[in-house]
Amino acid sequence: MSKSGKDGLLINKIAAGVLTAGIIFWGANRIAHVIIPDDSPKSPVIAITAPQTAAPMAALAVAAVPESVIPLLATADVAKGAAFVQQQCAACHSLNSGGAAGVGPNLYGALGGPMFASAGFSYSAAAKAKAKGNWDYASMASWLLDPASFAPGTAMGYPGIKNTQTRADVVAYLRTLAASPLALPTADEVKAASAAPAPTAAATGGAAEAGVTPAAAPSIDTMFAKVDLAKGEAFVQQQCSACHSLNKGGANGVGPNLYGIVGGKMFAAAGFNYSDAVKAKANGTWTADTMSDWLLSPSNFASGTMMGYPGIKNDQTRADVIAYLNKNADSPIKLPGT
Ligand code: HEC
Ligand code: HEC
Repeated sequence: MSKSGKDGLLINKIAAGVLTAGIIFWGANRIAHVIIPDDSPKSPVIAITAPQTAAPMAALAVAAVPESVIPLLATADVAKGAAFVQQQCAACHSLNSGGAAGVGPNLYGALGGPMFASAGFSYSAAAKAKAKGNWDYASMASWLLDPASFAPGTAMGYPGIKNTQTRADVVAYLRTLAASPLALPTADEVKAASAAPAPTAAATGGAAEAGVTPAAAPSIDTMFAKVDLAKGEAFVQQQCSACHSLNKGGANGVGPNLYGIVGGKMFAAAGFNYSDAVKAKANGTWTADTMSDWLLSPSNFASGTMMGYPGIKNDQTRADVIAYLNKNADSPIKLPGT
Protein backbone atom coordinates (compact mmCIF):
# COMPACT_ATOMS: atom_id res chain seq x y z
CA MET A 1 0.00 0.00 0.00
CA SER A 2 1.21 3.51 -0.69
CA LYS A 3 1.42 5.62 2.41
CA SER A 4 3.05 8.85 1.32
CA GLY A 5 2.64 11.67 -1.13
CA LYS A 6 5.77 10.46 -2.91
CA ASP A 7 4.21 7.10 -3.55
CA GLY A 8 1.13 8.91 -4.78
CA LEU A 9 3.27 10.84 -7.27
CA LEU A 10 4.92 7.64 -8.42
CA ILE A 11 1.53 6.03 -8.90
CA ASN A 12 0.45 9.04 -10.95
CA LYS A 13 3.56 8.69 -13.12
CA ILE A 14 2.97 5.00 -13.60
CA ALA A 15 -0.66 5.69 -14.35
CA ALA A 16 0.32 8.32 -16.92
CA GLY A 17 2.56 5.77 -18.61
CA VAL A 18 -0.12 3.14 -18.49
CA LEU A 19 -2.66 5.63 -19.80
CA THR A 20 -0.44 6.47 -22.75
CA ALA A 21 0.06 2.80 -23.46
CA GLY A 22 -3.67 2.32 -23.14
CA ILE A 23 -4.47 5.05 -25.65
CA ILE A 24 -1.92 3.63 -28.08
CA PHE A 25 -3.31 0.16 -27.56
CA TRP A 26 -6.88 1.37 -27.91
CA GLY A 27 -6.10 3.21 -31.11
CA ALA A 28 -4.33 0.17 -32.50
CA ASN A 29 -7.25 -1.96 -31.42
CA ARG A 30 -9.74 0.29 -33.27
CA ILE A 31 -7.62 0.01 -36.40
CA ALA A 32 -7.30 -3.72 -35.96
CA HIS A 33 -11.10 -3.89 -35.82
CA VAL A 34 -11.31 -2.41 -39.26
CA ILE A 35 -8.72 -4.78 -40.70
CA ILE A 36 -9.49 -8.05 -38.95
CA PRO A 37 -12.80 -8.72 -37.21
CA ASP A 38 -11.67 -9.40 -33.68
CA ASP A 39 -13.99 -11.24 -31.36
CA SER A 40 -11.78 -11.05 -28.28
CA PRO A 41 -10.42 -7.53 -27.89
CA LYS A 42 -11.13 -7.48 -24.19
CA SER A 43 -8.32 -8.73 -22.03
CA PRO A 44 -5.83 -5.93 -22.75
CA VAL A 45 -8.50 -3.43 -21.77
CA ILE A 46 -8.80 -5.23 -18.44
CA ALA A 47 -5.05 -5.28 -18.02
CA ILE A 48 -4.72 -1.51 -18.23
CA THR A 49 -7.20 -1.00 -15.42
CA ALA A 50 -4.86 -2.72 -12.95
CA PRO A 51 -3.46 0.27 -10.98
CA GLN A 52 -6.60 0.81 -8.97
CA THR A 53 -6.30 4.14 -7.28
CA ALA A 54 -9.00 6.75 -7.50
CA ALA A 55 -7.41 9.46 -9.61
CA PRO A 56 -5.53 7.31 -12.14
CA MET A 57 -8.63 5.17 -12.64
CA ALA A 58 -10.61 8.25 -13.60
CA ALA A 59 -7.99 9.02 -16.22
CA LEU A 60 -7.74 5.42 -17.39
CA ALA A 61 -11.45 5.22 -18.06
CA VAL A 62 -10.75 7.56 -20.97
CA ALA A 63 -8.58 4.89 -22.55
CA ALA A 64 -11.10 2.15 -21.89
CA VAL A 65 -13.98 3.68 -23.82
CA PRO A 66 -16.71 1.06 -23.71
CA GLU A 67 -17.76 -0.57 -26.92
CA SER A 68 -21.33 -1.54 -27.62
CA VAL A 69 -22.50 -4.94 -26.35
CA ILE A 70 -25.09 -5.17 -29.11
CA PRO A 71 -22.85 -6.85 -31.73
CA LEU A 72 -21.69 -9.34 -29.07
CA LEU A 73 -25.09 -10.52 -27.82
CA ALA A 74 -25.76 -13.26 -30.36
CA THR A 75 -22.50 -15.02 -29.48
CA ALA A 76 -22.27 -14.02 -25.81
CA ASP A 77 -21.53 -16.76 -23.27
CA VAL A 78 -24.73 -17.11 -21.24
CA ALA A 79 -23.14 -19.61 -18.82
CA LYS A 80 -20.33 -17.20 -18.04
CA GLY A 81 -22.90 -14.44 -17.58
CA ALA A 82 -24.86 -16.65 -15.18
CA ALA A 83 -21.73 -17.48 -13.15
CA PHE A 84 -20.77 -13.80 -12.97
CA VAL A 85 -24.25 -12.80 -11.80
CA GLN A 86 -24.25 -15.56 -9.16
CA GLN A 87 -20.97 -14.30 -7.85
CA GLN A 88 -21.43 -10.52 -8.08
CA CYS A 89 -25.13 -9.77 -8.04
CA ALA A 90 -27.04 -12.56 -6.31
CA ALA A 91 -26.22 -11.32 -2.83
CA CYS A 92 -28.50 -8.36 -3.53
CA HIS A 93 -30.82 -9.67 -6.24
CA SER A 94 -33.05 -12.73 -6.48
CA LEU A 95 -33.29 -14.08 -10.03
CA ASN A 96 -36.18 -16.55 -9.98
CA SER A 97 -39.68 -15.78 -11.16
CA GLY A 98 -41.56 -14.18 -8.27
CA GLY A 99 -38.41 -14.05 -6.13
CA ALA A 100 -38.44 -11.71 -3.16
CA ALA A 101 -36.77 -8.32 -3.23
CA GLY A 102 -33.54 -8.21 -1.23
CA VAL A 103 -31.09 -5.35 -1.01
CA GLY A 104 -32.02 -4.88 -4.68
CA PRO A 105 -35.16 -5.75 -6.66
CA ASN A 106 -35.90 -9.18 -8.13
CA LEU A 107 -34.41 -9.36 -11.64
CA TYR A 108 -36.71 -11.88 -13.33
CA GLY A 109 -38.14 -10.15 -16.37
CA ALA A 110 -36.15 -6.95 -15.72
CA LEU A 111 -34.65 -6.81 -19.22
CA GLY A 112 -37.49 -5.84 -21.56
CA GLY A 113 -39.67 -4.83 -18.62
CA PRO A 114 -40.35 -1.36 -17.23
CA MET A 115 -37.35 0.36 -15.66
CA PHE A 116 -37.12 0.45 -11.87
CA ALA A 117 -40.65 -0.79 -11.39
CA SER A 118 -40.42 -4.16 -9.60
CA ALA A 119 -43.50 -4.46 -7.37
CA GLY A 120 -42.78 -4.14 -3.67
CA PHE A 121 -39.29 -2.67 -4.05
CA SER A 122 -38.61 0.80 -2.75
CA TYR A 123 -36.32 2.47 -5.32
CA SER A 124 -34.11 5.46 -4.67
CA ALA A 125 -35.25 8.86 -5.95
CA ALA A 126 -32.26 8.67 -8.32
CA ALA A 127 -33.58 5.49 -9.95
CA LYS A 128 -37.17 6.76 -10.06
CA ALA A 129 -35.99 9.87 -11.91
CA LYS A 130 -34.50 7.61 -14.60
CA ALA A 131 -37.47 5.28 -14.92
CA LYS A 132 -38.54 5.96 -18.49
CA GLY A 133 -39.90 3.17 -20.65
CA ASN A 134 -38.54 -0.36 -20.72
CA TRP A 135 -35.03 -1.71 -20.28
CA ASP A 136 -33.57 -2.44 -23.71
CA TYR A 137 -30.11 -3.75 -24.53
CA ALA A 138 -28.51 -0.33 -24.81
CA SER A 139 -29.95 1.10 -21.58
CA MET A 140 -29.22 -2.10 -19.63
CA ALA A 141 -25.61 -2.17 -20.85
CA SER A 142 -25.18 1.48 -19.98
CA TRP A 143 -26.63 0.96 -16.45
CA LEU A 144 -24.41 -2.05 -15.84
CA LEU A 145 -21.32 -0.27 -17.14
CA ASP A 146 -21.67 2.33 -14.44
CA PRO A 147 -24.81 2.52 -12.29
CA ALA A 148 -23.66 5.71 -10.56
CA SER A 149 -23.27 7.57 -13.87
CA PHE A 150 -26.53 6.22 -15.25
CA ALA A 151 -28.50 7.29 -12.17
CA PRO A 152 -26.36 9.54 -9.96
CA GLY A 153 -27.22 8.77 -6.34
CA THR A 154 -28.55 5.28 -7.08
CA ALA A 155 -28.83 2.87 -4.17
CA MET A 156 -27.14 0.10 -6.19
CA GLY A 157 -23.75 -0.04 -4.50
CA TYR A 158 -21.96 -1.75 -7.35
CA PRO A 159 -19.14 -0.14 -9.32
CA GLY A 160 -20.17 -1.51 -12.71
CA ILE A 161 -18.89 -4.03 -15.24
CA LYS A 162 -16.17 -2.38 -17.27
CA ASN A 163 -15.35 -5.26 -19.62
CA THR A 164 -17.52 -5.18 -22.72
CA GLN A 165 -17.55 -8.95 -23.27
CA THR A 166 -18.47 -9.57 -19.63
CA ARG A 167 -21.21 -6.97 -19.84
CA ALA A 168 -22.53 -8.68 -22.97
CA ASP A 169 -22.42 -12.10 -21.24
CA VAL A 170 -24.35 -10.70 -18.27
CA VAL A 171 -26.95 -8.96 -20.46
CA ALA A 172 -27.35 -12.16 -22.52
CA TYR A 173 -27.94 -14.08 -19.29
CA LEU A 174 -30.43 -11.49 -17.94
CA ARG A 175 -32.28 -11.93 -21.24
CA THR A 176 -32.95 -15.58 -20.36
CA LEU A 177 -34.62 -14.58 -17.08
CA ALA A 178 -38.01 -13.97 -18.64
CA ALA A 179 -41.07 -15.88 -19.75
CA SER A 180 -40.61 -14.42 -23.23
CA PRO A 181 -37.07 -13.14 -23.71
CA LEU A 182 -36.54 -9.91 -25.63
CA ALA A 183 -35.75 -10.45 -29.32
CA LEU A 184 -32.04 -10.31 -30.11
CA PRO A 185 -30.92 -7.17 -31.97
CA THR A 186 -31.59 -7.28 -35.71
CA ALA A 187 -28.77 -7.32 -38.27
CA ASP A 188 -29.44 -3.63 -38.92
CA GLU A 189 -29.26 -2.78 -35.23
CA VAL A 190 -25.99 -4.70 -34.98
CA LYS A 191 -24.62 -2.83 -37.95
CA ALA A 192 -25.65 0.53 -36.53
CA ALA A 193 -24.14 -0.28 -33.14
CA SER A 194 -20.88 -1.46 -34.70
CA ALA A 195 -20.53 1.70 -36.79
CA ALA A 196 -21.48 4.30 -34.21
CA PRO A 197 -19.03 5.09 -31.45
CA ALA A 198 -20.42 3.50 -28.31
CA PRO A 199 -21.89 5.85 -25.74
CA THR A 200 -19.29 6.66 -23.16
CA ALA A 201 -20.04 6.68 -19.50
CA ALA A 202 -18.42 9.26 -17.31
CA ALA A 203 -15.03 8.34 -15.93
CA THR A 204 -15.38 6.10 -12.94
CA GLY A 205 -13.29 4.45 -10.31
CA GLY A 206 -13.25 0.77 -9.72
CA ALA A 207 -13.52 -2.32 -11.85
CA ALA A 208 -15.20 -5.23 -10.16
CA GLU A 209 -14.90 -8.00 -12.67
CA ALA A 210 -13.85 -11.56 -12.78
CA GLY A 211 -10.28 -11.55 -13.96
CA VAL A 212 -9.34 -8.13 -12.68
CA THR A 213 -6.87 -8.31 -9.85
CA PRO A 214 -7.11 -5.02 -8.02
CA ALA A 215 -3.99 -3.65 -6.43
CA ALA A 216 -3.96 -3.07 -2.69
CA ALA A 217 -6.21 -0.27 -1.53
CA PRO A 218 -4.89 3.24 -1.95
CA SER A 219 -4.17 4.68 1.46
CA ILE A 220 -7.19 6.42 2.89
CA ASP A 221 -5.28 7.59 5.98
CA THR A 222 -5.84 11.24 5.14
CA MET A 223 -9.59 10.79 4.89
CA PHE A 224 -10.39 9.80 8.45
CA ALA A 225 -10.11 13.39 9.62
CA LYS A 226 -13.17 14.33 7.53
CA VAL A 227 -15.35 11.25 7.65
CA ASP A 228 -19.13 11.39 7.72
CA LEU A 229 -20.21 8.89 10.39
CA ALA A 230 -23.89 9.21 9.49
CA LYS A 231 -23.12 8.36 5.89
CA GLY A 232 -21.00 5.41 6.98
CA GLU A 233 -23.81 4.14 9.19
CA ALA A 234 -26.44 4.56 6.45
CA PHE A 235 -24.21 2.73 3.98
CA VAL A 236 -23.63 -0.17 6.39
CA GLN A 237 -27.34 -0.38 7.16
CA GLN A 238 -28.12 -0.56 3.47
CA GLN A 239 -25.32 -2.76 2.15
CA CYS A 240 -24.04 -4.87 5.01
CA SER A 241 -26.78 -5.37 7.59
CA ALA A 242 -28.57 -8.00 5.48
CA CYS A 243 -25.63 -10.29 6.35
CA HIS A 244 -24.14 -8.74 9.50
CA SER A 245 -25.60 -7.76 12.86
CA LEU A 246 -23.92 -4.72 14.39
CA ASN A 247 -25.18 -4.57 17.98
CA LYS A 248 -23.12 -5.78 20.94
CA GLY A 249 -23.66 -9.50 21.38
CA GLY A 250 -25.72 -9.64 18.17
CA ALA A 251 -26.23 -13.03 16.56
CA ASN A 252 -24.15 -14.13 13.59
CA GLY A 253 -26.10 -14.19 10.33
CA VAL A 254 -24.85 -14.92 6.83
CA GLY A 255 -21.74 -13.12 8.10
CA PRO A 256 -20.32 -12.68 11.61
CA ASN A 257 -21.45 -10.01 14.10
CA LEU A 258 -19.41 -6.83 13.57
CA TYR A 259 -19.53 -5.14 17.01
CA GLY A 260 -16.01 -4.06 17.98
CA ILE A 261 -14.52 -5.43 14.76
CA VAL A 262 -12.04 -2.59 14.10
CA GLY A 263 -9.11 -3.25 16.43
CA GLY A 264 -10.46 -6.75 17.07
CA LYS A 265 -9.12 -10.15 16.02
CA MET A 266 -9.53 -11.08 12.37
CA PHE A 267 -12.11 -13.72 11.50
CA ALA A 268 -12.57 -14.82 15.08
CA ALA A 269 -16.21 -14.19 16.01
CA ALA A 270 -17.34 -16.89 18.44
CA GLY A 271 -19.68 -19.42 16.89
CA PHE A 272 -19.20 -18.30 13.29
CA ASN A 273 -18.08 -20.87 10.77
CA TYR A 274 -15.57 -19.02 8.55
CA SER A 275 -14.43 -20.18 5.13
CA ASP A 276 -11.00 -21.79 4.78
CA ALA A 277 -10.06 -18.78 2.64
CA VAL A 278 -10.16 -16.44 5.61
CA LYS A 279 -9.13 -18.92 8.32
CA ALA A 280 -5.65 -18.73 6.82
CA LYS A 281 -5.58 -15.03 7.83
CA ALA A 282 -7.20 -15.41 11.21
CA ASN A 283 -4.25 -14.52 13.42
CA GLY A 284 -4.10 -10.81 12.64
CA THR A 285 -5.80 -7.74 14.08
CA TRP A 286 -8.06 -5.47 12.04
CA THR A 287 -6.38 -2.08 11.62
CA ALA A 288 -7.72 0.83 9.55
CA ASP A 289 -5.41 -0.28 6.72
CA THR A 290 -6.19 -4.00 6.68
CA MET A 291 -9.89 -3.21 6.97
CA SER A 292 -9.56 -0.88 3.99
CA ASP A 293 -7.89 -3.63 1.92
CA TRP A 294 -10.59 -6.14 2.86
CA LEU A 295 -13.48 -3.78 2.14
CA LEU A 296 -12.00 -2.61 -1.17
CA SER A 297 -12.12 -6.16 -2.46
CA PRO A 298 -12.89 -9.06 -0.13
CA SER A 299 -12.08 -11.60 -2.84
CA ASN A 300 -8.72 -10.00 -3.52
CA PHE A 301 -7.87 -9.90 0.20
CA ALA A 302 -8.89 -13.54 0.72
CA SER A 303 -9.45 -15.34 -2.53
CA GLY A 304 -12.39 -17.73 -2.11
CA THR A 305 -14.00 -15.86 0.79
CA MET A 306 -17.70 -16.49 1.37
CA MET A 307 -18.38 -12.77 1.68
CA GLY A 308 -20.38 -12.27 -1.50
CA TYR A 309 -19.83 -8.56 -1.71
CA PRO A 310 -17.89 -6.88 -4.50
CA GLY A 311 -16.22 -4.26 -2.30
CA ILE A 312 -16.40 -0.52 -1.72
CA LYS A 313 -14.42 1.17 -4.47
CA ASN A 314 -14.95 4.78 -3.41
CA ASP A 315 -12.17 5.77 -0.99
CA GLN A 316 -14.19 8.30 1.02
CA THR A 317 -17.08 5.86 1.40
CA ARG A 318 -14.66 3.19 2.61
CA ALA A 319 -13.26 5.65 5.16
CA ASP A 320 -16.79 6.60 6.28
CA VAL A 321 -17.68 2.92 6.73
CA ILE A 322 -14.50 2.08 8.67
CA ALA A 323 -14.96 5.11 10.93
CA TYR A 324 -18.53 4.03 11.64
CA LEU A 325 -17.51 0.41 12.34
CA ASN A 326 -14.76 1.73 14.62
CA LYS A 327 -17.22 3.83 16.60
CA ASN A 328 -19.49 0.79 16.94
CA ALA A 329 -17.37 -0.68 19.76
CA ASP A 330 -16.67 -0.50 23.49
CA SER A 331 -13.25 1.03 22.86
CA PRO A 332 -12.73 2.52 19.39
CA ILE A 333 -9.12 2.68 18.19
CA LYS A 334 -7.42 5.91 17.13
CA LEU A 335 -7.75 6.16 13.35
CA PRO A 336 -4.87 7.61 11.30
CA GLY A 337 -4.93 11.42 11.11
CA THR A 338 -7.48 11.83 13.91
C1 HEC B 1 -24.87 -4.31 -3.07
C2 HEC B 1 -26.13 -4.66 -3.66
C3 HEC B 1 -26.21 -4.79 -5.17
C4 HEC B 1 -25.36 -5.48 -6.00
C5 HEC B 1 -24.09 -6.23 -5.64
C6 HEC B 1 -25.95 -5.38 -7.32
N1 HEC B 1 -27.10 -4.65 -7.27
FE1 HEC B 1 -28.37 -4.26 -8.85
N2 HEC B 1 -29.51 -3.06 -7.66
C7 HEC B 1 -29.29 -2.85 -6.31
C8 HEC B 1 -30.24 -1.86 -5.84
C9 HEC B 1 -30.33 -1.33 -4.41
C10 HEC B 1 -31.02 -1.48 -6.96
C11 HEC B 1 -32.12 -0.41 -7.01
C12 HEC B 1 -31.44 0.88 -7.46
C13 HEC B 1 -32.04 2.15 -6.87
O1 HEC B 1 -33.13 2.13 -6.30
O2 HEC B 1 -31.33 3.19 -6.98
C14 HEC B 1 -30.54 -2.27 -8.09
C15 HEC B 1 -31.10 -2.24 -9.37
C16 HEC B 1 -30.74 -3.07 -10.41
C17 HEC B 1 -31.41 -3.17 -11.69
C18 HEC B 1 -32.66 -2.41 -12.11
C19 HEC B 1 -33.82 -3.35 -11.86
C20 HEC B 1 -35.18 -2.74 -12.09
O3 HEC B 1 -36.08 -3.01 -11.29
O4 HEC B 1 -35.36 -1.98 -13.06
C21 HEC B 1 -30.74 -4.10 -12.43
C22 HEC B 1 -31.05 -4.54 -13.82
C23 HEC B 1 -29.63 -4.57 -11.61
N3 HEC B 1 -29.66 -3.93 -10.40
C24 HEC B 1 -28.73 -5.51 -12.03
C25 HEC B 1 -27.59 -5.90 -11.29
C26 HEC B 1 -26.57 -6.78 -11.78
C27 HEC B 1 -26.59 -7.47 -13.13
C28 HEC B 1 -25.62 -6.87 -10.80
C29 HEC B 1 -24.30 -7.62 -10.82
C30 HEC B 1 -23.44 -7.37 -11.95
C31 HEC B 1 -26.07 -6.07 -9.67
N4 HEC B 1 -27.27 -5.49 -10.02
C32 HEC B 1 -25.39 -5.95 -8.46
C33 HEC B 1 -28.35 -3.48 -5.51
C34 HEC B 1 -27.29 -4.26 -5.99
C1 HEC C 1 -23.93 -11.31 1.21
C2 HEC C 1 -23.56 -11.27 2.58
C3 HEC C 1 -22.55 -10.21 3.02
C4 HEC C 1 -22.59 -8.85 2.78
C5 HEC C 1 -23.59 -8.06 1.93
C6 HEC C 1 -21.46 -8.31 3.50
N1 HEC C 1 -20.78 -9.29 4.15
FE1 HEC C 1 -19.16 -9.05 5.35
N2 HEC C 1 -18.96 -11.06 5.58
C7 HEC C 1 -19.84 -11.99 5.04
C8 HEC C 1 -19.33 -13.31 5.30
C9 HEC C 1 -19.97 -14.64 4.88
C10 HEC C 1 -18.11 -13.14 6.03
C11 HEC C 1 -17.15 -14.25 6.48
C12 HEC C 1 -16.12 -14.42 5.37
C13 HEC C 1 -15.60 -15.83 5.22
O1 HEC C 1 -15.75 -16.67 6.10
O2 HEC C 1 -15.00 -16.07 4.13
C14 HEC C 1 -17.92 -11.72 6.19
C15 HEC C 1 -16.86 -11.13 6.88
C16 HEC C 1 -16.74 -9.77 7.16
C17 HEC C 1 -15.75 -9.16 7.98
C18 HEC C 1 -14.68 -9.88 8.79
C19 HEC C 1 -15.27 -10.14 10.17
C20 HEC C 1 -14.37 -10.87 11.11
O3 HEC C 1 -14.91 -11.67 11.89
O4 HEC C 1 -13.14 -10.65 11.09
C21 HEC C 1 -15.98 -7.82 7.97
C22 HEC C 1 -15.18 -6.74 8.70
C23 HEC C 1 -17.09 -7.58 7.11
N3 HEC C 1 -17.56 -8.78 6.62
C24 HEC C 1 -17.62 -6.33 6.83
C25 HEC C 1 -18.64 -6.08 5.91
C26 HEC C 1 -19.09 -4.77 5.54
C27 HEC C 1 -18.57 -3.46 6.13
C28 HEC C 1 -20.07 -4.94 4.58
C29 HEC C 1 -20.82 -3.88 3.81
C30 HEC C 1 -20.01 -2.88 3.17
C31 HEC C 1 -20.24 -6.37 4.39
N4 HEC C 1 -19.36 -7.02 5.21
C32 HEC C 1 -21.16 -6.94 3.51
C33 HEC C 1 -21.01 -11.73 4.35
C34 HEC C 1 -21.39 -10.47 3.88
